Amino acid sequence: MSDLLFEQVRDLIKEIDTVQPGSSEELEAFRVQFLGSKNRIKPLFAGMREIENNRKKDFGLLLNEAKSKAAEKYEILQSQLVSKDKSEGHGLDLTAPGLPLPLGSRHPVSIVLNQIVDIFQRMGFSVVENREIEDEWHNFTALNTPEDHPARDMTDTYYIKNDLSHVLRSQTSTVQVHEMESRKPPIRIISPGRVYRNETVSARAHCQFHQVEGLYVDEGVSFADMKQVLYHFAKELYGEDVVIRLRPSYFPFTEPSAEMDVYWGLNNEDDYRLTKGTGWLEILGCGMVDPNVLDFCGIDSEKYTGFAFGMGIERQAMRKYKINDIRLLFENDIRFLEQFKSAF
Ligand code: DAH
Repeated sequence: MSDLLFEQVRDLIKEIDTVQPGSSEELEAFRVQFLGSKNRIKPLFAGMREIENNRKKDFGLLLNEAKSKAAEKYEILQSQLVSKDKSEGHGLDLTAPGLPLPLGSRHPVSIVLNQIVDIFQRMGFSVVENREIEDEWHNFTALNTPEDHPARDMTDTYYIKNDLSHVLRSQTSTVQVHEMESRKPPIRIISPGRVYRNETVSARAHCQFHQVEGLYVDEGVSFADMKQVLYHFAKELYGEDVVIRLRPSYFPFTEPSAEMDVYWGLNNEDDYRLTKGTGWLEILGCGMVDPNVLDFCGIDSEKYTGFAFGMGIERQAMRKYKINDIRLLFENDIRFLEQFKSAF
């Protein structure tokens, strides 16, 4: 008789062991069967009376093992049920707000470029882009800079290996040529883009940077028009009370040529450094498109005139944000870039 009782408890333990994880209803059924007030282990305690005295202790231990097995198993089944629930998407609140993602910021060069583009678009200029690997024609010859012209030395140009007729463009003025070759006036464009020069990298110079080119060709376009457009641009970028001056200069593709300065002031050390002690900042080169250039590009220079201008974007960004080393603009150090979060 007592063997049978031992057998029953062992069978029960085996049964508990083999229960597989299931639904929450199955879990509840397990709890009722093995841990509830009318569980299946309880009645077996009554069997104790029938066990020989020398085996009572063993029987008690076995019953206790059954009880603790049931409790342990319940916990295991519960945890497996919870993880199953999760993987099936139960208990997941799809309406809960998401975790905030860290927000990036625009690069200062992009911020300034966007402002420049915006200003000129409001004046009716459209934005065009063109290639960075150029032939000599677009980078030099059509811009009135023939092969033996000393102005070719004005910029140290990168030539393509094994192909000396192609260069990494050294100026966005190349886009003027593309536009005039492919369209008839009126032409009113700006063209932002990357340019390359064989410069030793330093705090003030880099071998790659960005420029914005501008071109306006139509009948009767005058130097006064250019001055007015550039004055308006300076007011928009640097503030209504900006003071500008045009200084005579030289570029092979414009005649007359000028450089435009804005008055920055000389109030502190930064101002002295930025303006090299003059108080004036040079912000762009400009001029009336040389009739030779119009002719090279198939535009009748008797009928049409135009003005052009070009500026470096990094320079404007450095001035605007008082950045004293151009290399910072190319390193993409997050600690530097994060400082422009509040700009747009
Ligand atoms: N391409 C000149 C440079 O890289 C800048 C420039 C000057 C562009 C005068 C122009 C211009 O269109 O008219 O230094």
